[in-house]
Amino acid sequence: MTQRVVPNHIAIVMDGNGRWATKRFLPRVAGHKKGVDALRACVRYCGDIGVKVLTVFAFSSENWNRPPDEVSGLMELLAMALTREVPQLQAEGVRIHFIGDRSKLSDKVRNGLTQAESMTAGNTRLVFNICFNYGGRWDIAQAAAQLAARGEAITEASLDRAMALAHVPDPDLLIRTGGEQRISNFLLWQGAYSELYFTDKLWPEFDAAAIDAAIADYAGRERRFGRTSEQLTPSPLRARRKAA
Ligand code: FPP
Repeated sequence: MTQRVVPNHIAIVMDGNGRWATKRFLPRVAGHKKGVDALRACVRYCGDIGVKVLTVFAFSSENWNRPPDEVSGLMELLAMALTREVPQLQAEGVRIHFIGDRSKLSDKVRNGLTQAESMTAGNTRLVFNICFNYGGRWDIAQAAAQLAARGEAITEASLDRAMALAHVPDPDLLIRTGGEQRISNFLLWQGAYSELYFTDKLWPEFDAAAIDAAIADYAGRERRFGRTSEQLTPSPLRARRKAA
């Protein structure tokens, strides 16, 4: 029987909602709504197959530059998702964390985020990080600012501890849907050794079979973390020489 290699932590740039909607002559916000459906299914499937951490990019620091009706649509969608989805996520054992700068969000949304986090704080099946008003550069800067304010030395380890995702290990697999092949200011620090997977599928179409395809691709990768291939899998000849 072949055993499936399931990544511990999957991170996703959920791109392609706008194009999904435009292709159907729908407003872009309709694509984001469909994106919430895809996200719900993705969280459930990841929990089912044993992924321990799922981190998604829901709204970037740069997304404020979108047309005002799209920005307000995304804010409303978040507020609605908090009311509608959190009780179910709680029942499924999902622990929610919001990652990003909350200072620009409305009081209503901010309170909703805090409530969702405290309500699910005891769950252990899957950690679900929702990056909202997030940017990788923002995260590095806020971590450095924390250390400076405390007068702490800036080292890789101290920065790592001050980053917004310090509660989880780095992502093993970073997926981007929608056909673009870039990181777009997502997990700049934590993605240093993530395996990257790009797919043309638009986010609303990214279903369980598409997750399986990404994981199958990941399973074939050799993760060297700066080492050589030979260091990871010593050849039988080298092993015999070593033993002699
Ligand atoms: C990128 O697609 C997607 C976003 C900016 C928003 C992602 C949000 C969701 C999937 C919904 C979940 C949201 C909440 C609030 C939890 P795009 O709009 O850039 O698509 P395009 O490249 O086709 O234009």
